[in-house]
Amino acid sequence: MAKNRAIEKEIEQLRGEIRYHNHRYYVLDDPVISDAEYDRLLRRLIDLESAHPELVTADSPTQKVGAEPLKEFKVVTRDNPMLSLENAMTQDELIEWHARLIREVGEAGACDYVCEPKMDGVAIELVYRDGALTLGATRGDGQTGEDITENIKTIRPIPLRLLGERPPSMLNVRGEVHMDKADFERLNEQQKEAGEKMYANPRNLTAGSLKQLDPKITASRPLKFVAYGFGGLEGKTVGTQWEFLMRLIEWGLPINPHSRRCERIDDVIAYYEDILEKRDALPYEIDGVVVKVNDFILQGEAGVRARSPRWAVAWKFPPQEERTQILEIVVQVGRTGALTPVARLKPVQVGGVTVSSATLHNEDEIKKKDVRVGDWVFVRRAGDVIPEVVKAIPDLRKGDEKLFRMPRRCPVCGTEVVRPEGEAVARCPNVSCKAQVKERIRHFAFREAMDIEGLGEKVVAQLVEEGLVQDVADLYKLTVEDLEPLERLAKKSAENLVQAIEKSKNTTLPRLIFALGIRNVGATVAEILAENYPSIESLIEAPEEELADIYGVGPIIAGEIVRFFGNERNLQIIDRLAAAGVRYPKTHRAQTNEFEGEVFVFTGALARMTREEAEAEVKRRGGKATSTVSKKTTCVVAGEKAGSKLQKAQKLGVKVIDEATFLKLIGRERG
Ligand code: IVH
Repeated sequence: MAKNRAIEKEIEQLRGEIRYHNHRYYVLDDPVISDAEYDRLLRRLIDLESAHPELVTADSPTQKVGAEPLKEFKVVTRDNPMLSLENAMTQDELIEWHARLIREVGEAGACDYVCEPKMDGVAIELVYRDGALTLGATRGDGQTGEDITENIKTIRPIPLRLLGERPPSMLNVRGEVHMDKADFERLNEQQKEAGEKMYANPRNLTAGSLKQLDPKITASRPLKFVAYGFGGLEGKTVGTQWEFLMRLIEWGLPINPHSRRCERIDDVIAYYEDILEKRDALPYEIDGVVVKVNDFILQGEAGVRARSPRWAVAWKFPPQEERTQILEIVVQVGRTGALTPVARLKPVQVGGVTVSSATLHNEDEIKKKDVRVGDWVFVRRAGDVIPEVVKAIPDLRKGDEKLFRMPRRCPVCGTEVVRPEGEAVARCPNVSCKAQVKERIRHFAFREAMDIEGLGEKVVAQLVEEGLVQDVADLYKLTVEDLEPLERLAKKSAENLVQAIEKSKNTTLPRLIFALGIRNVGATVAEILAENYPSIESLIEAPEEELADIYGVGPIIAGEIVRFFGNERNLQIIDRLAAAGVRYPKTHRAQTNEFEGEVFVFTGALARMTREEAEAEVKRRGGKATSTVSKKTTCVVAGEKAGSKLQKAQKLGVKVIDEATFLKLIGRERG
């Protein structure tokens, strides 16, 4: 019994710690421990819970991995329907809305607004009872929605348990599940490579991810969440929207950090302009701002219509979709040989930028959308996402539009194109195809890769055409004399380029991994890999199953990595890069054995690092870190106000050092 109680206590302790770190990581975006430390805590909790299944609770952080598949979603009926919003398309319409409010509820109330970005995602409702998440549901028709609790539970920023000692007895909160533009691009690219369904935009992919009967699929999607709406509250009171948002923060729910209180309608207008300017730089898509009367009593006085409240309005941004005509469809050959059809368009302004070409992804997409040369189409751009053709408008056809057919031979090198059974992408299989070589070199030089300034499209094209460079390792042989004769390259530019190439030799592991151009390994995946492997050599040796198990990598990318390093040519290039002097510091799991045999205990408050960080530093150097002082302890690091552990160390005659000395030991501070 006593043992069980001790285990229960440890489990509770672990859950508390993990909840805290989840919140730091997913909500505040400010983690205080390393991924390895976090994994260790979670692993320990998983182990304890599997040994004691009777102690598993629905709000345990282990329940985020996705439960067993369901047969169907249950229907939920709500008393307090989820409303939609009336739109204002122009500033005049906003002012009209404001004026009407003043007529109806008076000057005082209508001038204190809360403004929030209008997230372009999927609305959901969450119910917490006594602090534990008990329901997650879609909006459906407002009155009835679907119970998608098991899927919702897997969304990282949504806490299974509210933070704080005394949560409300019931909280009903509404908000938006969404996906970052970069994550969408990456996932859609993976879907494309795997020959699976592609999605038109992050919202559709989010909706698709929430509607999975298998919660494990939802768990594998990088979904995010922001809370914005009041659905009901028991056991606590709030009087305004702003106060509600502040409470949500306390309870550990994410809100949009760009939310603001605006006292006057002029402030609302300034807010709209400010957010519109930030729009492209935001990691997620928004399509306007939502303006809400702050005071709940005044909201009540303003009232609701059938489907939307009078106390709120969605002031929409100009659309990012426009209509134009396809002049021709050309085929581009990418770094991996993939043939991508691209529509050349009659130039059109979309969201303030001129668009004259847009991707059509692949042959199947063109067939599915039935896009033809000469068609009128909708094109869409969002942030830095490549513009794409959304759909054709067949009603505007004249009859002379032409069907597109994928060429049988590579338009650049003439090699016969291959399209493996079940794949959506046609490829030029010739790795020496000049288009591929050029793209690989350009990729290598990208800012996020080796960052070689001055190695743009035109220079690369000449280097390849002149036969000066056949692969990325050849770059490091180039001399000013080689470059000078090139067109448009003055002596000074040639010198600068050679210098930039030289400078790129000092790099980092994530950059180098990304620069290699492994299919589906973008900058983010490269970072993840570098966190797990200290060097290229260790990555080359990594077994496929091990790679597939890494969060953020998965089986598809793991397969690509193994295939890439299985190719002798690629290994030779890596050797030649090293021989040319390309080098990087080994990454953090690079274990040294400098602390081998040492057992550290940290006690008291550390001023310069968290205890977790300090422990991670010890482990990275092959040492151990424990929490109790014993005869086995070899060194106690005593921070401010160290207490009984310090005394015990002194009693046992264990070496005691202060934080500054420890920092010197790990090379963070010079002696
Ligand atoms: S408030 C009665 N706030 O817009 C209040 N909605 O057209 C209704 N949305 O279904 C919702 N961001 O999916 C609200 N900050 C925000 C929002 C927001 C996005 C969506 C939501 C809603 C739709 C209404």
